[in-house]
Amino acid sequence: MPTLLRLTPDDVARSARRVMARCDELALVTAERGHIERVYLSPEHARVNRLAAEWMREVGMRTWQDAAGNQVGRYGPDDLPALMLGSHLDTVPDAGRFDGIVGVLMAIEVVRMMRHAALADPDWRLPFALEVVAFSDEEGTRFGKALLGSSAVAGSWNDEWWALEDGDGTSLRQAFLEFGLDPGRVGEAARRPDELIGYLEAHIEQGPELDRRGESLAVVSSIASARRFQLVVEGEARHAGGTPYDMRRDALLGASEAALSVERICRGEHHIIGTVGQFEAYPGAVNIVPGETRFSLDLRGEFDGERDRVWDRISHELDDIMGRRGLRWRAHEVHSAPAVLCSPLLQDVIRQGIMATRPVGADDPAVIFSRAGHDGMAIGAIADVGMLFLRNPDGISHHPDEFVSGGDVAAGLRAFGEAVLHLAHESR
Ligand code: GLV
Ligand code: MN
Ligand code: MN
Repeated sequence: MPTLLRLTPDDVARSARRVMARCDELALVTAERGHIERVYLSPEHARVNRLAAEWMREVGMRTWQDAAGNQVGRYGPDDLPALMLGSHLDTVPDAGRFDGIVGVLMAIEVVRMMRHAALADPDWRLPFALEVVAFSDEEGTRFGKALLGSSAVAGSWNDEWWALEDGDGTSLRQAFLEFGLDPGRVGEAARRPDELIGYLEAHIEQGPELDRRGESLAVVSSIASARRFQLVVEGEARHAGGTPYDMRRDALLGASEAALSVERICRGEHHIIGTVGQFEAYPGAVNIVPGETRFSLDLRGEFDGERDRVWDRISHELDDIMGRRGLRWRAHEVHSAPAVLCSPLLQDVIRQGIMATRPVGADDPAVIFSRAGHDGMAIGAIADVGMLFLRNPDGISHHPDEFVSGGDVAAGLRAFGEAVLHLAHESR
């Protein structure tokens, strides 16, 4: 595959070093000293947006913060549709420094590459504008509902979300006002499909597949569908010493059995993963049988139908468990996103981009399905989506040890840049 980039390996290595240094710099913008935590509509969110805007302007972009707090930069003429590049700057609690962040910084470096090419040859130009979006809430850490930033861009904001509350009881509406955003104008963040050529995102894999294969980059074929629930089990709080076992309606034990059944059911399924990540018993005293337990369930699958069938199985199992134990249960669905298939054209330009980083005659790159969620799940409603995965050694993510090497970022940058040029070629 011929290289289309007019850059030396040194230029790309410099860009990769800049990306790594900026990941370190953004890691310092955190609500928790010693840990990385940056949630939607927080002072840290405002600070990273300012930094990203500065870096976008440095490569010649016009910048603005949109009506949902996403930081946007645009490079190229106003009258052309844009290829959107991006990822997110918000984090989970006690996060690593690369999930989302590396994709935003790589996108800015790709703009730098394209600007470099345009400056070197005044007759050369892309047939589309480039936009970089640093999405503001991919993780859903603060309000439990993921993809708020990208849903606003996709025009799929739901007014019921205004009532969502964070752990301190602050509503999403109130948080918008405190951040300086006008809830009445959130619709202005929405983009029209005809304004966009497509959406490309680079992201660390967040699993071990590339590491196991000994490969650095992959084409993503699709993004898993997801549903998230908050579940409540109700029993009866009573004296821990005085209540015999045959009189207990212990909500914690019922919920524990439910969590184990999630594991058992999902393990027996192909490509379905269920996780109970939050678990709290009330009133939460050593000498009281728990009267209520609240827990979360995150359920993902390659296909929506399988995921929904598994949720039905889990629900029946919960009826059974709670019935046996004299407990009641209910579930509130807080997030639902269908699986998104990456477009064949964008998969192909990512594949060509990766091939351009390899010796002639090399095997085709890995094509893998993403079990993790990404902003592309929301953006898929208005644009074709393509994703490039970077090796994540040991597959650890949503953890401070999350890692991607500078060498893989350099290879990823070259592949990402080449992919944009291949798409430009296809679009002429
Ligand atoms: C986001 O990282 C998710 O997959 O939950
Ligand atoms: Mn994440
Ligand atoms: Mn992410």
